[in-house]
Amino acid sequence: MSLDIVILAAGQGTRMRSALPKVLHPVADKPMLGHVIDTARSLQPSSIQVVIGHGADKVRERLAADDLNFAIQAEQLGTGHAVAQALPQLSAETVLILYGDVPLIEPATLQRLLALVSDDQLGLLTVELADPTGYGRIVRDGSGVVQAIVEHKDASEAQRQIREGNTGILAVPGKRLADWLGRLSNSNAQGEYYLTDVIAMAVADGLTVATERAADEMEVLGANDRIQLSQLESHYQQRMARRLMAQGVTLRDPQRFDVRGEVTVGRDVTIDINVILEGKVIIEDDVQIGPNCVIKDSVLRKGAIIKANSHLDGAEMGEGADCGPFARLRPGTKLGAKAHVGNFVELKNAVLGEGAKAGHLSYLGDAEIGARSNIGAGTITCNYDGANKFRTVMGEDVFIGSNSALVAPVSLGDRSTTGAGSVVTSDVPADTLAVGRAKQRNIEGWKRPTKKA
Ligand code: UD1
Ligand code: CA
Repeated sequence: MSLDIVILAAGQGTRMRSALPKVLHPVADKPMLGHVIDTARSLQPSSIQVVIGHGADKVRERLAADDLNFAIQAEQLGTGHAVAQALPQLSAETVLILYGDVPLIEPATLQRLLALVSDDQLGLLTVELADPTGYGRIVRDGSGVVQAIVEHKDASEAQRQIREGNTGILAVPGKRLADWLGRLSNSNAQGEYYLTDVIAMAVADGLTVATERAADEMEVLGANDRIQLSQLESHYQQRMARRLMAQGVTLRDPQRFDVRGEVTVGRDVTIDINVILEGKVIIEDDVQIGPNCVIKDSVLRKGAIIKANSHLDGAEMGEGADCGPFARLRPGTKLGAKAHVGNFVELKNAVLGEGAKAGHLSYLGDAEIGARSNIGAGTITCNYDGANKFRTVMGEDVFIGSNSALVAPVSLGDRSTTGAGSVVTSDVPADTLAVGRAKQRNIEGWKRPTKKA
């Protein structure tokens, strides 16, 4: 069965009180419309049509992709009118209507809905609501057969008692759509061309309207203001937390955990509270992440340990490597297996070899550090001369004394050593001690100044 998907995203979203078009407001760092597009893609349709209007340029600029077609709805004359703007592009047997501001709809729900559609049957997604105010109501006859949708503003008192609401999500046989949309009128309470009027037309034409219930109200909830947006965000986070736990991750508190991107996890991973995972994060088996860590676009190999309050961005930690508390691994950081980075250590574009250690208070930028080397507390790679960046290259089993300044470009051979407090400006050969500091003088009998009377 071929499928076209139409996503309505032309509305203004006045209640967001924002310069940003509503559908670009993010849930978990991704525009709401981006979530809907990804869900649409997962159904492998023959086309995806996005109907845009308010902020059309911004929306297109942000989300343009080869597999999307944008249709402009210059004036928002109603949901039926919106779908009509995409009509010329539609050719599939089934057309599914989604909404750019209803981001949490799940592929599985849509699959169930699509399974209902045939030449003589529509699939309509409805939801049972405690308070259906504002929603279109599903009107059924005495035997429960759907007859029509009546919008809240057009509904009688009796119809307003109906608690089964229209989610707006609808799947129809494509060849009927042009005829139905062509017959819509706007003589109703809002003066709009309602997509929902298609239901009564289908019934009049002898088609059946089959319904599917959304399992969960949040799945079909739209965001009209920032309060609803925050509800969608927390619902999304709960969903992600449950998904990870189902895959074998221990979350110390699923309420205090956020995913803002794509996470791949192994088994027996433990994540403490207030951890944020951003971008693309790969976490292998047995990794432990302490509290208050932000981890972005990083790879954590088997058994890696990240202690509290660490910040990783574009980093890779080797098997059994550990960092933190308070470690900062910036883009291009690569820790070898069993490497150790301690507190207040910053690495950028730096490779720390297998078993190498930087235990305390260091900046290691544009550096290559060989296996088993030990970086003393307070070591700084001076990688920047104010105009250009230079590299520090270190062999294996090097020992850098505390508070050394390594002025790049500089290289240190295998098993070389620097004395504490050295400023190292020239290369150090293998098996050599470099001492680059003023020689100590002792002044005997030195009298400290005394306070004037
Ligand atoms: C619509 C449904 C209602 C349903 C409710 C669920 C109709 C007539 N009513 O009502 O039955 O219960 O959604 O939330 O369909 N849009 C456009 N162009 C337009 C008008 C709307 O793109 O000309 C988009 C909006 O951006 C929005 C969506 O369609 O994403 C729904 O529009 P909205 O005006 O919010 O419809 P409701 O009145 O809520
Ligand atoms: Ca709405």
